[in-house]
Formats: sequence, structure tokens, C-alpha cells
Amino acid sequence: MGCKMERVFDRRPGILESEDEIRNLKQMGMTKIQHLRGKRGTFEKFDDWDFGFVSDFDIRIWDFAATAFHYGQAEREGMALRHIPVMVEEVVTCLRCEPHRTFVDATLGCGGHAVEILKRTGPDGTLIGVEWDEDAIAEAREVLAPFGKRVKIFRENFVSLPEILKDSKIESVDGILLDLGFSSLQLEKGERGFSLQKEGPLDMRMDNRIEPTAADLVNQFSAKEIEKVLSEYGEERWAKRIAQSIVYERERRPILTTQGLRKVVYQTIPRRFQSRSIDPATRTFQALRIKVNEELENLKAILETGWKSLGKGGRMCVISFHSLEDRLVKEAFRNLAKKGTKGLLEEGAMRILTKKPITPSEEERSKNPRCRSAKLRCAERV
Ligand SMILES: C[S@@+](CC[C@H](N)C(=O)[O-])C[C@H]1O[C@@H](n2cnc3c(N)ncnc32)[C@H](O)[C@@H]1O
Repeated sequence: MGCKMERVFDRRPGILESEDEIRNLKQMGMTKIQHLRGKRGTFEKFDDWDFGFVSDFDIRIWDFAATAFHYGQAEREGMALRHIPVMVEEVVTCLRCEPHRTFVDATLGCGGHAVEILKRTGPDGTLIGVEWDEDAIAEAREVLAPFGKRVKIFRENFVSLPEILKDSKIESVDGILLDLGFSSLQLEKGERGFSLQKEGPLDMRMDNRIEPTAADLVNQFSAKEIEKVLSEYGEERWAKRIAQSIVYERERRPILTTQGLRKVVYQTIPRRFQSRSIDPATRTFQALRIKVNEELENLKAILETGWKSLGKGGRMCVISFHSLEDRLVKEAFRNLAKKGTKGLLEEGAMRILTKKPITPSEEERSKNPRCRSAKLRCAERV
């Protein structure tokens, strides 16, 4: 991980040029993909790539595959892997990043958005970074080092934002950014247990202090509980069958690895219902990740309280990556904008600035496949 962020940005167009490039690869008889398969052993699904995907979910899975491709190339070229921030220009514009102001990046990750916020708020703007993953914090510290004391980083759950600000004696801030979900850094490290393709322990914790791990959940929850997780958070139509198979398998031996779980799911969903383009275990993995990290509960909590930390005119920007998240953001903003709610405010607590969510430009979508399902919503404290 030694290389500087700029280098990845410089090389980005060379990594994954466009959808056309991938399309061409396909037309070229998949020779390159065959080569990749030899190197990585994870690209079987690329044979069946179909660019006619329609659902939000399917597009996300395509992104996932294309991101793996992108990183495969990066790895072969000996480049460090970095998370590419999504809709950076849109975020800094929505937040109104100007000198002297104070912003919170509540999902600091590797500091991609934070760098831009700090550049625009120089020479004396402040950034409070909140992140619970120690690996990400290490990356962010390196990237943000040039900004010195203008950055303060806290290893916390963003739900604790009000306490963090109180302890730092900050009464209010000018903007809060939430860039939800997990980062490419987390996905790409097999040992973190997020990857469908890489063997690793079934962990999936973004913060290694929390419990239970995905393995605990899979090996200890009842079939009914597992089914509920898979259908609520993965919208998995085979939830019941998968839960029963998990319980059956774990009675013989515990399911402790990503590939162990993937195999169980693969063997459970009838072949004729398995998409040729999407790994059958994708929804199961998503559901477990959301449950392990209590992603939706944490999001609800910060949406409920975060706005109180904004000064008048302060803005909250949220980037979501799937409909479960986006629905929560949309509803929370709508509730906060209702007249008379939240402390009897006559005008409502927030004003919605994005009636429809902002989505990435075509150019960004072709350069960074991961961004394709991203939706940015913004609201302003009244
Ligand atoms: C999509 S990444 C953010 C990437 C970042 N914007 C960048 O440009 O590098 C999301 C990050 O939020 C962190 N995260 C998710 N939920 C969190 C929570 N409840 N508290 C603190 N950090 C959280 C994850 O660990 C992950 O690093």
C-alpha cells in the first residue's frame, strides 16, 4: 500500500477505460479474460457478461465484477489499491466547501473525499474524520498528513458524532458527509471476509471490535433468524432454503470461510434459477455484511440525530449504494423537512436540496464501475 493516491488517479483511465473497452474484450474472444482467469481464478462469470442489465441490484453486481477486473489489472501492474471516491465534485459543491469552514466526513475511509474537502477549505478549514476501520484510518492518515492540524480523526462509529463534537468542543459544523457501505480496500483484502471471490475467514466486520462476526452468525443463529437476515437485507428469494442448508452443513462442520459459505449457497439454489452473470451467493454476502455491521440501524441513528450538529445553513450529503439505504435517506430527509416536526420548528428542521438524487456522470461511470449505483442526496439545516 505504499503508493500515493495521485498515482492511482493518474493511472485510472488506463485501468478500465470504458464499457466499450470491456465490450471489445468480449468480442476479442475473451482471450484477455482467459489470461486473467489463469492469474486470478475468479473470472468465470465474465464469459457470460450481459450488458442488458436493468435492475439497480444487477447493475451493482456488474459493478462488483468490473471492480474486481479493475483491481486485477492494478495488481498485475504492481500498483497499490486505493478506493476511488465517488462524485467528488458533486459532493464538494453540495457541501459548499469554502475556506474557514468545518466539515465532518463521517465515513472517512481512505480519505478520498476528505482530501478534496480540505483542498477547498484551505488555508484554515477543519475536517473531522470519523471511521471505525483501523486499516482505513492508517491509509487516511497517510493521505491527509499534508493537511496537518486541520484534520482530526476519530476511530468511532459515526453514530457517536454528537458526543465526538461535544468532546471536541465544537458546537456546530457546516456540513456532514456520509459515503455509505464498504470500501474497495475492505473488499479486496481476502482476510477481511467481504469478498465473494477470495478465500478468507467469514469475518465481514468493518470494525474488528464489534461482534458477532459473519461466521458467528452463520454458525449460531437459528434457521429462522438466518432466513430473516437473508430476506430482509439481501432480498434473497431462496432465503429459507439457504438458511436450512446452512444449518444442515454446519451440523457436520462449522462454516468458517467465504468459499465454504459460497459453496453452500451455490449448491442450494437450483441451477436453472442461478443467474449466469451474478454469483449466486451475492445476496447472501450482502445480507450478512449489512447485519454484521448493523449498517441500516447505524444509518437510521445518524439520520435521526446528525442534523442537530449542523449550524444554520449547514448541509448533510449522503451517498447510498442500494435501495435499502436510499429509502432510509429519502424518508428521513422527508420527515425532517415536514413542518412542525422536530422541536416544533415552524419550517421543519431541514430543506431538501435534491428532489431527485444526483447520480454519477457518464464519464465517471465509465471510469469507476463501482460508482454506477451511487445516489447522492443533500439537505440543508433551516
Ligand atoms: C465507501 S467507504 C468511504 C470512502 C471515503 N469516502 C473515501 O473517499 O475514501 C465507507 C467507509 O465508511 C466506514 N463506515 C461504515 N459504517 C461506519 C460507521 N457506522 N461508523 C464509522 N465508519 C463507518 C467503512 O469502514 C468504510 O471505510
